[in-house]
Amino acid sequence: MQTNVTKEAKLLKVGVLGCGSIGQAAHLESCSKARNIELTAICDVADDLRVKMAAIYDPCKTYHDYAAMLEDPEIHAVVIGISDEFHVSCAKAAIQAGKHVFVEKPLGVSVDECLELKELVDKSGLTLQVGFMKRFDGALQYAKAFLRGPIGEITTYKGWYCDNVGRKTVTANVMPMLYSSDKMRLPKEDARAVRERYNLMAHGSHLFDTARFLAGDIISIEAKYAQKRGLHSWLVACEFEGGVIGSLDLTVSIVQDWQEGAQIYGTGGTVFARMYNPWEFRAATVECYDGATHLSHSPYVADGQFYRRQLEAFADTVLHGVPSDAATVDDGIASVRAMIATYRAVHQKGRRIDLKDVEGGM
Ligand SMILES: NC(=O)c1ccc[n+]([C@@H]2O[C@H](COP(=O)([O-])OP(=O)(O)OC[C@H]3O[C@@H](n4cnc5c(N)ncnc54)[C@H](O)[C@@H]3O)[C@@H](O)[C@H]2O)c1
Repeated sequence: MQTNVTKEAKLLKVGVLGCGSIGQAAHLESCSKARNIELTAICDVADDLRVKMAAIYDPCKTYHDYAAMLEDPEIHAVVIGISDEFHVSCAKAAIQAGKHVFVEKPLGVSVDECLELKELVDKSGLTLQVGFMKRFDGALQYAKAFLRGPIGEITTYKGWYCDNVGRKTVTANVMPMLYSSDKMRLPKEDARAVRERYNLMAHGSHLFDTARFLAGDIISIEAKYAQKRGLHSWLVACEFEGGVIGSLDLTVSIVQDWQEGAQIYGTGGTVFARMYNPWEFRAATVECYDGATHLSHSPYVADGQFYRRQLEAFADTVLHGVPSDAATVDDGIASVRAMIATYRAVHQKGRRIDLKDVEGGM
């Protein structure tokens, strides 16, 4: 049978670990449609789920056992889409087996385990990319290029990420039907049970990574947190490298439409970015004002499928050495540090936390 997808001559042979929500909503289809990837294998301990996904996505082979998939010499890279608690151990096993790794965000749940992974990655020479897909939003990439040029020196970064009460309605409409199984491998403790930690890890990771992507490294954090009847809100004051000051707002879930964006002030211009619920697959609306020409520039980006675009960039890097905007293991560690610092700053009553001193977990 034929499809509407055109593949390049050289394809990265990928095994996807995890046929759960993110596998079904993003990775399996993205690997199938990516111009430079072959969906060589899928792996999940939940046999019913794996069989169902194999029927839909038609990989060359399937594995119940992750170790067996890692032994397969035909597979060059793995895409890891499983619970946060399992990321580091599965990524380590893949690196030890000589496979390139794409691993979902957050990189891990503690700084220490992430540093162990980094040591292995650095020694291996293999590529490890963290799944911060917003870096592959073409409009944000345009903004980043502008920030390197006409904007001059940056003084201020304001970022906000407010998940909303209607999100599940929207995602249920736009995602494929999601299957689950009582045979899925899940951590002993349900991460969602402790909302403060869960929201920081699941949503805060995007807020911090986008801030770092656009404004550079975060040096220190002070934070305040309020929670009322399931509405969780953090205000974070941060200091970036180069003397940039910043404020970040993470709120889950506001009683309004999804609100996500950034405003950046520079000596030569200003950037405003509005992002959307990622499952709408819509590139950000970006306005870059150049003070020298008195003109605003707003890119139009048709391809908002950043989940696929991040995997195509991963494959380009592995196959052809093409550098990309991807989050590296160091970026993954930096965002884990920022989340833990935020958690500690709140629990230590507004104390300023230097990110370089952050060890352990929440
Ligand atoms: N980037 C994004 O926008 C985004 C969105 C949602 C989720 N995520 C991330 O995706 C990750 C996965 O989330 P999810 O909700 O899809 O998880 P999930 O629990 O729904 O699915 C994980 C699947 O992996 C399987 N699995 C786990 N360990 C395994 C092993 N060792 N061997 C074989 N199978 C194994 C489980 O059986 C399960 O079916 C999380 O880290 C989450 O933060 C990212």
